[in-house]
Amino acid sequence: MDLQLTEEQELIIKMAREFAETEVGPKAAEVDKNHRFPEETVARMAELGLMGIPIPEEYGGSGSDYLTYVMVVEELARACATTGVILSVHMSVCTYPIFQLGSDDQKKKYVVPLAAGEKLGAFALTEPGAGSDAAAQQTTAVLDGGHYVLNGTKCFITNGAYADVFIVAAMTDKSKGTKGISTFIVEKGFPGFSVGQTEDKMGLKGSSTTEIILKECRVPVENLLGKEGDGFKVAMAALDGGRISIAAQAVGIAQASLDASVAYAKERKQFGKPIASFQAIQFMIAEMATKIEAARGLVHRAAWLKDHHLPVTQTSAMAKYYAAEVASWCSNRAVQIHGGAGYTTAYPAERLMRDAKVTEIYEGTTEIQKMVIAGSLLR
Ligand code: CAA
Repeated sequence: MDLQLTEEQELIIKMAREFAETEVGPKAAEVDKNHRFPEETVARMAELGLMGIPIPEEYGGSGSDYLTYVMVVEELARACATTGVILSVHMSVCTYPIFQLGSDDQKKKYVVPLAAGEKLGAFALTEPGAGSDAAAQQTTAVLDGGHYVLNGTKCFITNGAYADVFIVAAMTDKSKGTKGISTFIVEKGFPGFSVGQTEDKMGLKGSSTTEIILKECRVPVENLLGKEGDGFKVAMAALDGGRISIAAQAVGIAQASLDASVAYAKERKQFGKPIASFQAIQFMIAEMATKIEAARGLVHRAAWLKDHHLPVTQTSAMAKYYAAEVASWCSNRAVQIHGGAGYTTAYPAERLMRDAKVTEIYEGTTEIQKMVIAGSLLR
């Protein structure tokens, strides 16, 4: 595995880091406090070419690769985890699967504006009764002439109220189990499509998490993504890619926790000296740094596998499982190092701890990742 970055990759990552530090990070606390979706940040990301990093230029992207893209997600999440997940969902589980699996017409119609950042993407698989058990889809799609008619409710949809294009899973044949599920490209303007309730969450408060309601929603047949009955595999393959970028988001949160801890430990004095001089603090810092490096290594390995079209399901699940635990552990340590101050909103530590938790839950809980890893080992 050669992870030596090219000059071009380094330029993209450097630009993303500068953007994250100067424009994204300074707004993170306000975005969190006001539960505000940072529309202006998304517009700037489009201007900078960050909404289409792994998509070829002929389809509106920057023509780079998945590794560079996940490294950018880490940089953004280090500054603001909300911004990291907006890009992650837009690219990994909407734009990229359409690019990989879509017809040429679908790519021209949807990937081009998505990769250019003119449109925002989302992924609608989860339902009230189909969370970890993604196969238990209740949403139906019935063929009616030139359209499929979709009925059902999706929930916990990231980017829900702001996305223009959704990949939606629905049952085309309930008798066939997972082989009766199909995926569709659905536009927010299609008749019968509406956005339902917005969730009030523990963290990632600037990220829009909503229900999507499909009521006699008419979707043209040409918007079927993949073949009829292939939808479960399409969704799982999308999640294989999605889990790498969520893992990158988790590494970004963990790195921000370490950055904040190092700065505070040097500045805060107790017993007449900076708390950084105490071994208890030094050990926490050393453990955080080591776990972060290990998690980052898994993320980069998974992205490299994906870029080389090698099997990635197991490594992607490992990266997501491990990086999410590292993010939660490091952010918890960051609050501890900050002491009472860390429990207040005067410092970012409490926000990092709230933001970290969901990385253990969405795009497949830690327990689901372990099932995927064990499943591929014991098959
Ligand atoms: N790639 C391609 N195909 C795959 C696959 C993958 N990664 N994983 C499974 N499949 C195929 C299997 O090979 C199998 O095909 P065959 O029948 O032809 O052999 C078929 O799919 C069914 O597989 P399983 O029997 O393993 O299916 P299952 O019902 O046992 O489910 C599961 C497996 C891993 C538990 C799956 O349901 C799962 O990943 N659940 C978690 C769902 C999830 O991550 N949801 C998050 C939604 S997105 C979100 O969080 C919100 C957001 O906006 C970010």
